[in-house]
Amino acid sequence: MSQEEPVYPVHTEIQEKASIKSLDQYREIYQRSIHEPDHFWAKYAARLEWFYPYTHVQQCDMKRAVFRWFSGGKLNASFNCIDRHLDKLGDKPAIIWEADEPGSGHTITYSELHEHVCRAANVLRQFDIKKGDRVILYLPMIPELAYMMLACARIGAIHSIVFAGFSADSVRDRILDCQAKMVITADEGLRGGKKIPLKSIVDSALRGVDCVKSVLIAQRTFAEIPLVPGRDHLLNQEMKRQRPECPAEWMDAEDPLFILYTSGSTGKPKGLLHTTGGYMTYVAATHHHVFDYRPGDVYFCAADIGWITGHSYIIYGPLANGATTVMFESTPLYPNPSRYWETIERLKVNIFYTAPTAIRALAREGESHVLKHDRSSLRVLGTVGEPINPEAWEWYYKVVGESRCALVDTWWQTETGGIMITPLPGVTDLKPGSATRPFFGIQPILMDENAKPITSQEATGHLCLARPWPGMARTIYGDHERYVQTYFAPYPGYYFTGDGCRRDKDGFYWITGRVDDVLNVSGHRLGTAEIEAAINGVFQVAESAVIGYPHDIKGQGIFAFVILNTEAEDLSQEDLVSAIREECRNRIGKLARPDKILIVPGLPKTRSGKIMRRILRKIAEGEYKNLGNLTTLADPDVVDFIIDAHKTMDRQT
Ligand code: WT7
Repeated sequence: MSQEEPVYPVHTEIQEKASIKSLDQYREIYQRSIHEPDHFWAKYAARLEWFYPYTHVQQCDMKRAVFRWFSGGKLNASFNCIDRHLDKLGDKPAIIWEADEPGSGHTITYSELHEHVCRAANVLRQFDIKKGDRVILYLPMIPELAYMMLACARIGAIHSIVFAGFSADSVRDRILDCQAKMVITADEGLRGGKKIPLKSIVDSALRGVDCVKSVLIAQRTFAEIPLVPGRDHLLNQEMKRQRPECPAEWMDAEDPLFILYTSGSTGKPKGLLHTTGGYMTYVAATHHHVFDYRPGDVYFCAADIGWITGHSYIIYGPLANGATTVMFESTPLYPNPSRYWETIERLKVNIFYTAPTAIRALAREGESHVLKHDRSSLRVLGTVGEPINPEAWEWYYKVVGESRCALVDTWWQTETGGIMITPLPGVTDLKPGSATRPFFGIQPILMDENAKPITSQEATGHLCLARPWPGMARTIYGDHERYVQTYFAPYPGYYFTGDGCRRDKDGFYWITGRVDDVLNVSGHRLGTAEIEAAINGVFQVAESAVIGYPHDIKGQGIFAFVILNTEAEDLSQEDLVSAIREECRNRIGKLARPDKILIVPGLPKTRSGKIMRRILRKIAEGEYKNLGNLTTLADPDVVDFIIDAHKTMDRQT
């Protein structure tokens, strides 16, 4: 990279009051966090309230992939998010629910949250949910989702939230994988004025499933829904009947808090398991420092709780810190592209956290939507989910943040539980597109092609992490071997992230994207194998190969190359394409529908049958020359056929 790369220095007004005030201070704390990790993390664990002290800060083994933090210590996540704040913050807003129609939501104070969560926890108990039982939450962004997560945590049940955009098949797969005993859903979701028939999707998901004993239904739209006698119950009615007090279970620090499914490079999603003490310590510490959270701030993370961002930085992190957190039900474009900025003005938001895909979609709508709203309350802006292109970064920084806010580009993953590489508002000079430096206790390592750590400052390689941290996922639920194979086998002694990365002369990290068969579409993770399995479910399809290609708004678009069965002639190309898109929607969800589908006579494969995706990626980008070495292909002619098909497609679109 050139020397002229712009650098935006830390703002002194932010620096003066920030929790970490200079690069020197950061360096000193960072060194301590690496050299005396136990001492360092003990200090952050002490910010939580423990019922009983732990015996060891950590017992971790990167080689065997065994990780225990604060074990023997007893605490409760729900208690830490609610009860311990009641004395001082009882009347303070815990959650501001920003409903789909602007301004139609309401505020829930810490005392009210306590009452709702206790009632909800008693409902779970009434339906025989016990410590360790799995509960699926398939809910829109309504307060009941927060209540039910915290209610599960309160009694030690393990929640597994399924994003409300996933299909019935996806819900069923997750229910079966974790053998859930209960599903909690809503009559309908409401997003951008559109209704999503959640209860009816759950009914389909539960066909033939016998582990689920009861279904609780929150009422969002009050649509008429059929109730299955003995199985289905209305959540609000049940909550009303219960007492507003429920003692919090003493959980071991290593007891599970939740399972969250995410896509990997095989067809089957992985249920990442997060535990209690380390996770809570990590999300509270990162929420505090990365966003420079200050008491009284209104904090707005616009993610969905169905993803890890929402778990860690709408609910657990902010509430552990006694913050006021905004829960946003709508979309960035509803009812118009001013929605975020209008909400920020109305709620006087100080910290705003969103995704590059939303920023790009809004930048395209023009500045006027931003400028007509007062954003003077804003101090820190954040982004997460995918690499942010410098143009989108600059727009966010200059137009939204008036060049006076700190901008934190936070790199992390479902597996890491919390933010790993990130600027700190009072510390880090910013370079658009770089996630900058590691958080305390985090040691990034770049690996070369021979699986050796690169020691030079300037380097490009596969991103690994050399030490354990409290927030890391402990296993893949029910499949520890897959956990070991995916994250610890590729580089023994290190955690492998699946991302490529560059380190520049100043030691800044630049994430370049996934190096495995995982796509990042609008910040959502999808496995190519998962999409291919769905496409191959269409009767006329013989085989398919899915790759990502650069997409202006989504970051990556989904491109499917499809080979038909010989007996499949009777469908028109158009019908086939819609059948394939429909199948992806049914098997996975709307977000998995391919943007482009190309019917091809064959796929570029090696003699051993491996699809050479590198070639497909180039063709998808319209790069027909410089395809690299084609001599290892079983049938090199197939490449010309695919190029011709792609040229024809490009002419048509
Ligand atoms: C993958 C993790 C972390 C919550 C949302 C996504 C990509 C995430 C960044 C960033 C560049 C990023 C990586 C990562 N990613 N944040 N700031 N810059 N890439 O969680 O679904 O687990 O996906 O998202 O590729 O591995 P996820």
